[in-house]
This record gives sequence, structure tokens and C-alpha cells, in this order.
Amino acid sequence: MTELTLDQYRRDCVIDPALPQDDHGAKIENVDNGCGPISPERYFSEEWAELERTRLWNRVWSWACREEDIPEPGDYVTFEIARESFIIARGDDMRIRAFYNVCPHRGNRLVTDEDGARPAGFACRFHNWRFDLAGNNIEIKDRETFRPEALCRNADLRQARCETWEGFVFINMDKGAPSLLEHLGPLVEHAKPYRISEMRIMRRVQAVWESNWKIGVDGFNEAYHVHSIHPQILPIFNDYHAQIDLFPNGMSRMTTKFAHQSPRMNQDGLNPGLRWLMEEVGLDPDSFAGRMEEVRPAIQKAKRAMAERLGVDWSGFTDNQLTDDWNYDIFPNIQLGMHPEGISMLYFRPHKTDPRKFVFDVIVMMHPQESGAIKAPAYMGLPEGWDITGRKPAEIERVDWREGGLGELFDQDASLFADVQLGMESESYEGAILSEQEQRIGHFHAELERYLGLRS
Ligand code: FES
Ligand SMILES: [Fe+2]
Repeated sequence: MTELTLDQYRRDCVIDPALPQDDHGAKIENVDNGCGPISPERYFSEEWAELERTRLWNRVWSWACREEDIPEPGDYVTFEIARESFIIARGDDMRIRAFYNVCPHRGNRLVTDEDGARPAGFACRFHNWRFDLAGNNIEIKDRETFRPEALCRNADLRQARCETWEGFVFINMDKGAPSLLEHLGPLVEHAKPYRISEMRIMRRVQAVWESNWKIGVDGFNEAYHVHSIHPQILPIFNDYHAQIDLFPNGMSRMTTKFAHQSPRMNQDGLNPGLRWLMEEVGLDPDSFAGRMEEVRPAIQKAKRAMAERLGVDWSGFTDNQLTDDWNYDIFPNIQLGMHPEGISMLYFRPHKTDPRKFVFDVIVMMHPQESGAIKAPAYMGLPEGWDITGRKPAEIERVDWREGGLGELFDQDASLFADVQLGMESESYEGAILSEQEQRIGHFHAELERYLGLRS
């Protein structure tokens, strides 16, 4: 492999140098967040977890559900983050609202199930106060026994902010936070060709992993570990020359070439992985006369022709988007691997009480199809023959990480992260030392430290 100098790595890892600067795929100017160390106590200390509860989770946008999860008035889901629980409900006016899942009378949890339908509104099972779908109190049992000054207090459900983007419903406890769309910044425009609002969750697998949530975010924010943990994808994945862009609000993007052999392989000719990708789009590897680097453009061309044949509109995508992984990190805890065929969404939530665990959702979204002609990229782990008609909402499949079931790539990471957690807690460990391949980790932690008041 020809190694780059540090300057070349920072400057020249660009997927398509010909793109004009105003194209959404163009590399933006580097942001220098330093190179560590990242202090280790953030991955295990109770104090740090408490700081995140009081300065992060109550100030950021958190994804709660999809709009299609609650199509009718009275439909609701509950959503938990840190120690809070919310009811996300559709009102008679079709508006979606987020209520703190707390009865204002004596503080009972109002709803204890994950989802359901209550077209008549919510009743508290402690003393039967009732609330309509806009959160207004509509009945105080035995009202005559309350003194007037007790009843001048607010008896309605308390609301959090609730905003949507491409069908995702987000909540925010901070009344002063910038809007969801402002927070998402460039992604709002960049995501348009994917038509995510028309996609549906085809599979959602959830597992509790034995590490801090940030070990998960960090691990999926770099491709540096791929050659060591996931060598099976090197034949089709250029892990080394990733284009990294650091955007405002802690967001980052890493674009990596698929259908392009890793330079670590030093192997001539079409490897079996590239041959398989070609066959998948109807190209015959045996009669392919081009060089190995020409496989990716050939696949892009074949994909465009396939979309046209199937009557699918992929005209808004650049050629690179047809093959490559465009991975966006939405601060603080969502990563989207974006492809025209589908989106892999990774969701990292802290465990309610244990900073050494996190709740991990691996989600695959696609446009509903009857034919199954368009397949999700193999790394997403969608089993062969999976129902992608979108007719049935995907139930959350809860699995034990030790038993696998998230797909080969994710299962490889699960066993690793538990060991990272153990190592980080050693007295000898002084904190992460970051390469330029790991810039996104530094960018994420800089934003986190700003939220926690530890950096200006
Ligand atoms: S706590 Fe809800 S009605 Fe009393
Ligand atoms: Fe990994």
C-alpha cells in the first residue's frame, strides 16, 4: 500500500476531486479539534453520566418514533431517554405532541405500555384525572374537594418540544434549543434525494451492549478498525481513503468507497467480493475488460440503468452515492449509513442506570417494494427474503448481544466493545490518542464537552 503523508491524508482524501465546492459531496474545510487525549472517566463514571443527564440529554433533540407509528388520532408511543419518559401522541387535529409521561396530580407515570391507541385521551390510574389528546386536563375527580388555590395550579400535561424531519419525530426538553432543522444543518438538504419520509422501517433489532454509549458512537465513527475487526469487507471497501467532513453542531460525515478494494490488499485482478457486486447488478465479471478501479464506475452505470428499468427515480443522486457509504453522525447519538437502496440507522442510548451499558438499535429503512428487486446493501444484515412490502410495521426484535443476530459486522463489534470498556477502566489508561482517520471522534467529543460546560 502506498502510504500518504499526514498532510496528504488531511487534504487529499476526497472521493471526487472534480466536484464543485458548492456540491453537497464536496469536501469542506478541515476543522481542527486537536488529537486527544479523550479523558477516560466519561466512559464509566457516575458523575459524568449525571452531568450528561443534566446538561446533555435534557438539551438535545432525541429521536422518539416515526410519524407512521402513530397514524390516527389517539395513537401513541412512549419513549424513554435518560430518566425521563414521554408520551408521543397524535391529536384530533392530527398534530403530534410530546408529553412528559407524568400525571401533574401526584406524579404517577401516566402510561406504562410501549404503544397503543387512546382516542378518548389519557386517564391516570391513581385517582382517575383525565387529559385530552392535546394534554389539557378534562377531569379532576371530586373537584369540589380541592381548595380553589390548589386548583389554580397547572393541571395539564407538561409538553416537550416535538418536531419532525423526513418522518422522524424528535423531542427536546429545552425550550431554548435551536429548531430540529437548524440542528440538522446541511443534512436536511443532503438527504433530500433519498426521500426518507417515504421509507419505512423494515427491521429494528435492539440489544443492550456492555459498554458506555459513547464507546458505541466512537466505534462506528471511524473505519480505522475495519482492517482488523472486519477484514472480510476489505475486498469491496476502501477503508483507508475515507473523506471526512466535520460540520457544525457536532455533526460529521464520512464517505467511503464501496465496490473498490482496500489499498491494504495489494491484490490484482477481480477479487470474489467485487465479482459478487458486479453479478448483483447484472454485470458479467468474466467478460469485464476494465481494470479493477473501473469496477466501481461500471457498477454505478449499471445501477442507474437498473433504476430506470424499474421506474425508480435515482436522478437526484451523484454517481458516488450509488455505490459508496455516506455516513452521517447526528449529534449526539444517531448514525445514518445512506444508500439509494436503503438506510442503516444506528441509535445509541445510555442505559437508565448503568454507564457501562447502552441500548443499541440497529434499524434498516427502505422504500416499500413488492418485487424485492432493490436490495439493501449486504452489510445492513437484512436476511434474504425479508418482507420489504412495508405493509406490516416492524416490531422491535430484542436480542442478546452474545447470541448475535444483528448481522455479522455488528456482532463482531459487540464482542469488541465490551473489552474496550474493561481496558478503559484501567488506572494505567490515559485517554484516547486519535489519528486523522478518527477525526470524527474528536469532533463529537468537542461538542459533547461544550454541552457539558467543559470547553468553550
Ligand atoms: S396521580 Fe394521577 S390522578 Fe392522582
Ligand atoms: Fe465495526
